[in-house]
Parts: sequence; C-alpha cells; structure tokens
Amino acid sequence: MKIKSIVFSAGLISLFILAGCKEKSSDGNVSTIAEPTKTVTATALIDELAKRVLGIGLKPIPANPDELKKLTEDVNNTFTEAKIELGKKLYFDPRLSQSSLISCNTCHNLATGGVDGLEAAIGDKWTANPHYLNSPTVYNSVFNKSQFWDGRSPHLEDQAQGPMQASPEMASSKGLIEQRVISIPAYVEEFKKAYGDDVKITFELIARTIGLFERTLVTSSRFDDFLNGDSNALSAEEKEGLKLFADKGCTTCHTGINLGGGMQIFDAQGIYKYKNVGDFKGNANNMVKVPTLRNIEETAPYFHNGKIWTIKEAIQEMGKVQLNTQISDEDAAKIETFLRSLTGKKPAITYPVLPASTQKTPQPIVK
Ligand code: HEC
Ligand code: HEC
Repeated sequence: MKIKSIVFSAGLISLFILAGCKEKSSDGNVSTIAEPTKTVTATALIDELAKRVLGIGLKPIPANPDELKKLTEDVNNTFTEAKIELGKKLYFDPRLSQSSLISCNTCHNLATGGVDGLEAAIGDKWTANPHYLNSPTVYNSVFNKSQFWDGRSPHLEDQAQGPMQASPEMASSKGLIEQRVISIPAYVEEFKKAYGDDVKITFELIARTIGLFERTLVTSSRFDDFLNGDSNALSAEEKEGLKLFADKGCTTCHTGINLGGGMQIFDAQGIYKYKNVGDFKGNANNMVKVPTLRNIEETAPYFHNGKIWTIKEAIQEMGKVQLNTQISDEDAAKIETFLRSLTGKKPAITYPVLPASTQKTPQPIVK
C-alpha cells in the first residue's frame, strides 16, 4: 500500500490511504492482497494494457458492492443473511447424501480452491465419475454462462439438484432429502426465518438455497484491481504475461469476468493428448464449457478429465489444441506468472455447526 501511494499521483493519495486503512480482512488475517480500489475515478490512470484487454472482452469483478450484487444476485430469491447462512449449512451437510457422508464440500472443498484435487470426482461408494469428469471449482461459478462441462444447466439453483440425486455423487433422492431436513426442527426454524412461517420445505427450495449461497463465493484478485484502475496492482512480469495471453489469442475463449464460463469447441486445431480418457465429448455440438482461470493455481488437475497436472502443461496443450501454435517454455512461464495473479481473496467462511439429527431423521444408507 505504501509503495502504491508513492507511485500514484498526488490527487489519488487520499484514495489509497482510505483503501489502505483496511489492513485486516474479515477473517482476521492480515491481507497480503491489495484491497480493491473503491472508485472509478482512477480510470484516467488505466494503462494501455488494461485498456486493451478491457477492449477485447476481459472484465473485472466490480469493486463496488452494489454493482457486484447486481451481477450475482438472483432477483427472484434475493440475498439475506438468514438465507446465505442456511445455504451454507446445507452446502456442508453430508446428510443430504444417501450415505450421510458426502456433502457438496466433499468434492467442492472451499478450503482447497472449491475442488477435490482429483482427476475424476469420487462419490457414493467410492465411485469415480463414470465419464471420468473432474470437479470444476464452485468459486466464481456464478459468473459462468451455464453450468457443467457440457453446459447443460442454466444456473446454480438448477445445477444443485443434479449431484444430490446422481448415483455416483450423493446418490440421494428428493424424498429422502426432504425427510432428512424436515425431521430436524432447527432446520425447519431456519427455513421459516429465511422464507417466512408459511414456507414449504421442498427439494427444489433446498437446492435454491444452496445455489444462493454459492452466488456469494466470489474471489476478487489483484487482476481485478488492475482492471479497476490500479495500474500497479500487477507486477511488470505479470503484465508481460497478460499481454502474451492476449497476443496469443487465449482471450477469444477465456474472456468476460470469469476468463471463461462460455461454451467453445474443444480441440479443433489439434488432438488433445488425453482425449481417450473417459468418454466425454462435449455437448451435442462438441462444445465444452471453458473453465474459469480464476484461482487456477489452486484447482489442479486441469481439463475435463483432470489428466493435466501443471499449469505450464495446460498452457502448452491449449496452444496445440486450440490455437495450432507451439508455446515456448519461456512464453508459457510468462503466461503462468500472469495466471497466478488471478488467485483471489476468498470470502471468510466460518465452518458451520449443523443442527443435530432426531429420532425421526432417516439413518445413513451405506449398503
Ligand atoms: C462426488 C463429487 C461431487 C459432489 C458430491 C458434488 N459435485 Fe458438483 N460437480 C462434480 C463434478 C464431477 C462436476 C462436473 C460434472 C459434469 O460436468 O457433468 C460438478 C459440477 C458442479 C458445478 C458446475 C460448475 C461448472 O463450472 O460448470 C457446480 C456449481 C457444482 N458442481 C456444485 C455442487 C453442489 C452445490 C453440490 C452439492 C449439492 C455438488 N456440486 C456436489 C462433483 C461433485
Ligand atoms: C478456442 C477456445 C480456447 C482458446 C483459444 C484457449 N482456451 Fe484454454 N480452454 C478452453 C477449453 C474449452 C478448455 C477446457 C478443455 C477441457 O476441459 O478439456 C480450456 C482449458 C484451459 C485450462 C485448464 C483450466 C482448468 O481448470 O481445467 C487452462 C489453464 C487454459 N485453458 C489456458 C489457456 C491459455 C493460456 C490459452 C492461450 C494460450 C488458452 N487457454 C486458449 C478453450 C480455449
């Protein structure tokens, strides 16, 4: 922060002193990441590179909380603290699974980048995903245009219904999930607090509440500060990497707020070297969801079947299969340096204490 104040023109010093006051993040840790700048008056200082990448479609997570809320909130189910807290509990509750062992957090672990770190996800009865699919991160998934590797789900509320019922994941059923939740009076109370006394606790509402919680899992990074007007938020090396990222054409697909999140043809220019691992071929038009590159250093292994374990290899494989170009070790290292600047500040998550089961709660099914 100090360095920034010195480098920045005098008119902006007060701004950064303001921003710099917050030396502690909400989880109590001293923040090592630059605080997002709270204003747009810095636009005048946006350097050429920021202007250029904004011009070709990259977008920052807004620093302004109201603007961010406009992008992330579901207008039909607006944010309240009661709903977010309930959604968090459900996200962490393994009793939504048949075995009562597996929660959303098992595969989308919020402590480890929102992923499980496995090539193919492992769910109920230690079953690997039948298509050998890797668990994508839930962080920033609200910014994806659609959900799942083949984009078959339009939004998080719809998406959350899938894994609870899927046999290789949580292997539960609508009926069992409703019974488990309704058998726990403390949960019923929380639903009333969130949605009013007349609330009908249904499987769909449970999924919607989990989706609402996921909408809060946004991680702003130094890259966002850079695009929001702080030209010193990225180092010279990171800027060089960003420039290469744009020059090579990565931004054709890794664009928008999530540097991804849309659907694109996969391996049109060359054959993916692990194409035959699993039977995933994309959607009916061979389109694959472009994964977000935010927090990429925390979300290995990469690609739909998790066969690529290093960022460098992912970059070079991308060059080959998507751009028909060989990316040198040196260039890959520069791009990787930029990609690591996308590691964002995670929202503080207090691990929830879940309400106790009762005699009426259906027991775990582990056979
Ligand atoms: C057994 C591991 C497992 C569990 C449990 C699980 N997921 Fe997933 N999740 C996956 C896998 C694998 C995919 C990709 C599947 C596909 O594309 O067909 C996925 C995809 C997603 C996506 C889409 C992200 C994107 O970028 O496309 C979201 C969001 C998500 N899961 C949220 C949840 C929620 C919420 C729960 C709990 C209700 C949950 N998951 C439970 C493994 C799991
Ligand atoms: C034509 C569209 C397109 C272009 C251009 C492109 N990508 Fe990708 N990228 C994708 C798709 C689609 C995937 C997912 C592939 C899969 O899962 O098998 C992906 C995956 C990745 C991944 C792995 C992410 C993860 O979490 O699994 C990285 C890293 C990546 N791309 C970086 C780059 C870089 C760097 C460039 C430029 C050199 C680039 N991409 C160019 C579409 C593209």
